[in-house]
Order: sequence, then structure tokens, then C-alpha cells
Amino acid sequence: MDQELFGKVDHYISEMLAPEDEVLKETIKSLDDENMPQISVTANQGKFLQVIARMCNAKRILELGTLAGYSTIWMARSLPESGKIVTVEFDPHHANVAKQNIEKAGLSDRVDIRVGKAMDIMLQLKEAKEEPFDLIFIDADKPPYATYFEMALTLSRSGTVIICDNVIREGKVLDEHSDDDRVVGVQRLNKMLASNENVTATILQTVGVKEYDGMAIAVVK
Ligand SMILES: C[S@@+](CC[C@H](N)C(=O)[O-])C[C@H]1O[C@@H](n2cnc3c(N)ncnc32)[C@H](O)[C@@H]1O
Repeated sequence: MDQELFGKVDHYISEMLAPEDEVLKETIKSLDDENMPQISVTANQGKFLQVIARMCNAKRILELGTLAGYSTIWMARSLPESGKIVTVEFDPHHANVAKQNIEKAGLSDRVDIRVGKAMDIMLQLKEAKEEPFDLIFIDADKPPYATYFEMALTLSRSGTVIICDNVIREGKVLDEHSDDDRVVGVQRLNKMLASNENVTATILQTVGVKEYDGMAIAVVK
């Protein structure tokens, strides 16, 4: 793998098509300042999520895994004024940093940060019988990805797009005997996507400034 070339091309694309403004740069910086991991999506992936949100004319978005709000900000910027993104984060420190970044972005009216475990919050959303989401981005802990996906389906309608990040894990998904529970979690999801008759799905490999990985994209039938 030519990681150096992938990195250079990633910069080439992001400088042209996904330049970060001060708010996005500050959001990435807040991770270091607050001793949080640098595991946000890249600028190009943020822009990709924004493009997808526009493509499906998303007015209601659900995100699992907020961290500092970097991907949240990219997606929230695609929303109309009346739109809403519900983003779920179980670490209160992360949620608090995200809240500040989202305020700086002027998006507090469009972003609803829920602090809690992804599964618990999805159950609450289901019980509240809210309108289905147009786009769901799954980017929280990997072992329960298949369960998150099944639950996400109950918060969807025909046409809802569901994207799951980090489903290739540097190619480790090829190892049928992996004992890494994150690898096993995404392998379970990927197999389930192939057999689930309620969705049509594929996986895009992702290369660039971050490690080689992949994003699953599914649309609900
Ligand atoms: C990969 S980061 C999210 C990155 C973010 N989507 C971005 O691109 O800017 C994953 C986040 O999920 C959170 N998380 C982990 N397990 C969770 C769970 N069970 N429920 C909700 N959030 C969880 C972590 O604390 C972390 O902040």
C-alpha cells in the first residue's frame, strides 16, 4: 500500500472540495486540547457524509458516536433550518466538548446531543414514536454494530440511508479467525448486510490520511 500517495491525494481532494473552516479546524484541535482520541472522520469523509445527506434530502439525521462533533458539524450543515440531527454519545466529557464545538458552529438549534448508550437512546427514540430518520450514521463502538444496524432499521422508512464507518479495519475483516472483537463485530455486520432482505447495501473502501478502512452504505427497501 502506498500510504504516502493516499495521504497526498486526500489533501489534494480536501483542499479543493472539503476545505475546513476555522470551526472545523478548532474542533479537531479540541481533541488534543481535551485529551480525546483523534478518531474523527477525515475532512473528505465529512464532506462525503454531507453530500449523501443532501442527496437524500435529509431533514432528520441520527448519528451514533459524537466524539467532538466533527462529523456532526459536517452533516448538520446540510440540514434545512427546520432540520434536526440527533447525535448519541455515552462519554459525558466528549458530549460536553462536542456541545461547545457545535455552539461555535452556530448549529445548536439543529443538533440534539443525547448522552447515553447508543442502544438505550435508540430504544427511547423508538418508544417516543418519532418520525423516521432519513439518514443514520453509525460510528460508535464496533462489537455491537450488527445490533445497532437492526435497531436503526426500526427507526427508518423505505429510502432511509444507513452508513456504518470502519467496517474493513485495514483488511483484518478477511481473517475468519480474528479474536479482535471490533473485527468480529464488523464481520457480523457485513455478513448481515448481505443476507438482510430489507436493505440493499455495499461497502466502499476508504484510503487517505487515516488508516485503510471502509464504509458500508445501505438503503432501506
Ligand atoms: C469514532 S468516535 C466518533 C467520531 C465522530 N463520529 C466523528 O467522526 O467526528 C466514537 C465515539 O463513540 C462513543 N461511544 C463508544 N461507545 C458508545 C456507546 N455504546 N454509545 C454511544 N457512544 C459510544 C465514543 O465515546 C466516541 O466518542
